[in-house]
Amino acid sequence: MEKVYVFDTTLRDGEQVPGAKLAAAEKLEIARQLEALGVDVIEAGFPASSPGDFEAVRNIARNVRGVSIAGLARAVPSDIDAVWEAVKEAANPQIHIVLGVSDVHLRGKFHKSREEILRMGVEAVRYARAYTSNVEYSTEDAGRADLDYLCRFVEAVIAAGAKVVNIPDTTGYCYPKEFGHIIRTLMERVPNIHQAIISVHCHNDLGMAVANTLAGVRNGARRVEVCVNGLGERAGNAALEEVVMALKTRADYFGVETGVRTEEIFRTSRLVSTLTGIVVQPNKAIVGANAFAHSSGIHQDGVLKERSTYEIIDPGLVGVAESKLVLTARSGRHALRAKLEKLGYKDFSEGHFQQLYQRFLEVADRKKEVYDEDLEAIISDELRRDEACGYVLEEAAVTCGTKGAATAEVAVRGPEGTVRRAKGGGSGPVDAAYVAVDQIVGIPCKLLEFSLQSVTEGIDALAQVHVRIEAGGKLYAGRAAHSDIVVSGVNAYLDALNKAASKEVPAAVKPAG
Ligand code: KIV
Ligand code: ZN
Repeated sequence: MEKVYVFDTTLRDGEQVPGAKLAAAEKLEIARQLEALGVDVIEAGFPASSPGDFEAVRNIARNVRGVSIAGLARAVPSDIDAVWEAVKEAANPQIHIVLGVSDVHLRGKFHKSREEILRMGVEAVRYARAYTSNVEYSTEDAGRADLDYLCRFVEAVIAAGAKVVNIPDTTGYCYPKEFGHIIRTLMERVPNIHQAIISVHCHNDLGMAVANTLAGVRNGARRVEVCVNGLGERAGNAALEEVVMALKTRADYFGVETGVRTEEIFRTSRLVSTLTGIVVQPNKAIVGANAFAHSSGIHQDGVLKERSTYEIIDPGLVGVAESKLVLTARSGRHALRAKLEKLGYKDFSEGHFQQLYQRFLEVADRKKEVYDEDLEAIISDELRRDEACGYVLEEAAVTCGTKGAATAEVAVRGPEGTVRRAKGGGSGPVDAAYVAVDQIVGIPCKLLEFSLQSVTEGIDALAQVHVRIEAGGKLYAGRAAHSDIVVSGVNAYLDALNKAASKEVPAAVKPAG
């Protein structure tokens, strides 16, 4: 298969994202990771833009030896000199020159004719060639340029010695068919086109960056300019991970390959996100938190039976440990059973499993997502409830707030099966509910300890309550979990009271302090 070269511009175009400014040491860390990822060229910065950027590029050129290092220059000698100074110590330095070619740019920015700009471009390439043969020329805003002029331009800069000619859709204006047509036309009409590599650099203003990049490859481009996580000016550049994985996953369609070590993709994405502070959207292709997460019951069932039913990429290929089944109210029994087995809970009777499933649905209805910790809490709660053949909470309702004392009404089923109701008042809803429970159960006891912990994060988390009581001179512990604090508190209290009622030998619990 033919090779497509990967030119990463995360440290130049990507760093142009507002707020993504990186310190020199952070740039070096990212460059090292890009080298591990196996990109062919790292565009390390724009040396003429500031002394800081110059130093950062030079630092990378000196320290990252396994990959070509490029720096960006406008088509003027001082910029080209600055790039060369910054990259010359690299193992394989490259000078990247950019100059607009569209009439919009010529009239709006340069106030020069097409012929003048063509001359400027050719002179810049010749100037850079005096330093190195490794010169890339970018025809900025090629996506909106006159195609005949673009063909002439590309021919002229190749004749002047450009080794790579980049065709940027700088403003993200093109659609894939149009962009593909530009590349195809260049491949067919420019007589010396095979003396250079055609590169594509697409922005995402209309959400077409990746599609246009791939259309470029389909039509003859052999280098792609991309940014990790799709960072870049305005709406960003084509995302490295999406382009690389599209070429790999659909090698049957594109018939090309890159040298990227795809297992490093996820790690690279996380590093860039952490250091730039630009969060990856959860539904982002390849590297988003949900890229390999299945939520619907139908999909979970399918993936559990055969992964390829709903996954076209093995997560391990991009360095993600495994696909995730997100347990929500839409998850079915199959997913719950698989998750429980993964957590080490295997030997359930069918009846017990159905009970757990009902409990899971109750929690899932209240929460968006049920985490492993929630399941652990549900299981231990259910196990205790099964063992406790005593008092069971049937209903609880409370009023509380700033307008006076809290009140509670509680209904509890006793060991003999009758349900009794009682009301209580107290300093808070749990206190009031305990007063009501005391009237029903009637075991004299003293509450020694009450502690509340949320099982996971978030307002909808399960609340785990631990209590310790003293009854008949002995200590008993109780525990329960529920998304309602009062229900959790009452269940924990009943758990301890049931132990006291059955005169269970207390566990080795000592009073606090
Ligand atoms: O978008 C663009 O045209 C660029 C060039 C420097 C290639 O970033
Ligand atoms: Zn760009």
